[in-house]
Amino acid sequence: MCGIIGVVGSSDTLATLLEGLARLEYRGYDSAGIALVRPGQTWRARCAAGTESVAALRIECERAPSGFSSGIGHTRWATHGAPEVANAHPHLDCSGNIAIIHNGIIENHTELQVELEARGHTFTSVTDSEVLAHLIEESRSQGLELLDAVRASLKLVRGAFALAAMDAGEPDVIVAARRISPLVVGTAAGVTYLASDVPAILDRATAFYAVNDDEVVRLGPEGFRAVDLDGAPVRLHQLSIEWDLETAQKGGNDDFITKEINEQPDALRDTLMDRRRPDGTITFDELRISDDELREVKRVVLVAAGTSHHAALVAKYAIERWARLSVDVDISSEYRYRDPVVEIGTLVIGVSQSGETIDTIMATREAQRRGARVVAISNIVDSSMAREASAVIYTRAGLEVSVASTKSYVAQIAALELLALRLAQLRGTLDPSDIDAFFHGLNAVGAQVATALERRGHVEDVAKQLIGAHDFFFIGRHLGFPTAMEGALKLKELSYLHAEGYPGGELKHGPLALIEPGVVVVAVATDLVMHEKILSNLAEVKARGATVVAVATDDDDAIAAVADYVLRVPATEPMFSPMVDVVPLQIFAYSMARGLGRNVDRPRNLAKTVTVE
Ligand code: AGP
Repeated sequence: MCGIIGVVGSSDTLATLLEGLARLEYRGYDSAGIALVRPGQTWRARCAAGTESVAALRIECERAPSGFSSGIGHTRWATHGAPEVANAHPHLDCSGNIAIIHNGIIENHTELQVELEARGHTFTSVTDSEVLAHLIEESRSQGLELLDAVRASLKLVRGAFALAAMDAGEPDVIVAARRISPLVVGTAAGVTYLASDVPAILDRATAFYAVNDDEVVRLGPEGFRAVDLDGAPVRLHQLSIEWDLETAQKGGNDDFITKEINEQPDALRDTLMDRRRPDGTITFDELRISDDELREVKRVVLVAAGTSHHAALVAKYAIERWARLSVDVDISSEYRYRDPVVEIGTLVIGVSQSGETIDTIMATREAQRRGARVVAISNIVDSSMAREASAVIYTRAGLEVSVASTKSYVAQIAALELLALRLAQLRGTLDPSDIDAFFHGLNAVGAQVATALERRGHVEDVAKQLIGAHDFFFIGRHLGFPTAMEGALKLKELSYLHAEGYPGGELKHGPLALIEPGVVVVAVATDLVMHEKILSNLAEVKARGATVVAVATDDDDAIAAVADYVLRVPATEPMFSPMVDVVPLQIFAYSMARGLGRNVDRPRNLAKTVTVE
């Protein structure tokens, strides 16, 4: 969950690194640093100023000497060692000539450090990453070129890495390598780049390449050469990037999350685009599983984390209802430790915006190891999960920069409901006319989301009324339950207020004891199937003094009797309601967070992609 960047052969190395780090901050921003290298000299600057680390580094770099054409930079989310300067990357070897930056976790760093210290190495940090600098130093001292020194060092390492190394003794060369943590290489005329992901170098490189696990790349001004850990040449996979820099900017909004909430209709449209042939067949070009294999599916397991887990909860209803298949939903980080049962015909679906969440990657790897077919639902083309799964379905939500997932969530639900319709089509569990109706209904959800977005003002007014509240329950029943879970998570991660998501029917089994004046209960009350029951839940909490906010459809004239505030949404097919009902909850969480002065794009303690377990 750190961000790395490097450049070789540039005439504005410092600017390239600092601009790239600014765009990588959403991967973590506890500290930032850069190292510049030229023959015989490695120059380093590091800052640990929380969300202002890159800004502080920019000031620090005003004292940098000129004339460097190569350098590396790093923005950190602490995993080993406090977020302070001593632990900030880049880390140097004992000579001060070798500089490394690293994203990931070196699992055997303790034993390596003991051995290195016994051989006289001096460590200056308490990070796991620093061992890499000293391992490379030892190989270089044995006469190996930097590329071979990095290969030899990585053979000793267990764990995850996206690594870049430079040495003043081999100027104008960066050696980068990847295992689990994401890494891309970019090229332009006479300049070569590396970064954790594309936006950091989007406006500088003209071609982009994905680095796969255990691939090592030597970057020079003339281009790059890639090998595996044994030194055998490998070809990097060229990425098709349509993003322009504008996509990575805020689009005129105060922040990325506003831009991305507003982009939800587009995300739905794009995700559903060209997914149906004229004969009515639902199709996923990128799905590398045959129809026969899909017909053989007997059971579905979804694994995901955070917001993606809530999308998976929605998918359970759709796949069971439409395709009549048994579905389990697992938290990724729990899945592989419970010795899961995987039989023939088990389809495991990994849901992940980034496609890099280590919990979900490890869960899908375990499923594959046990013989499951795995489908990845990923928003990032060629993400690690996408490349490793048997098949992938891409959400097309576009770049999601804000740490809080919004547009990727609704896109995930759309993609998963489309897959449910495809399964129903292959299994014959729905009439073709019903499938068509659901498909066209799904394509109309974007307009309903747009209508919900137009009502932002009322939601902001309600948030202003509640800005002093500290305890929130989000409740829903049936398809309102995953939405309630997602609404609670949005409020927590954006505003830092305590909120819990619960099935409405569960309150009476304990949590009702917490209901008293001052507690706010937010109810998702749009599900017609359970409408009477959620109304009685609200009567229960109102009788105990709670303040009630209800998400309700335009035609609901009973809700006002049990709600202090009503957030109206257009009525829709129940299965589609999670994509519409979540909109006022996203805006509510955002408004509360802005009212409390939070950093809505980069909430404290969090990172956009969690690549540690
Ligand atoms: C949601 O707003 C958070 N960003 C977080 O819970 C996120 O959904 C989770 O870390 C999973 O990320 P992924 O979808 O990239 O796997």
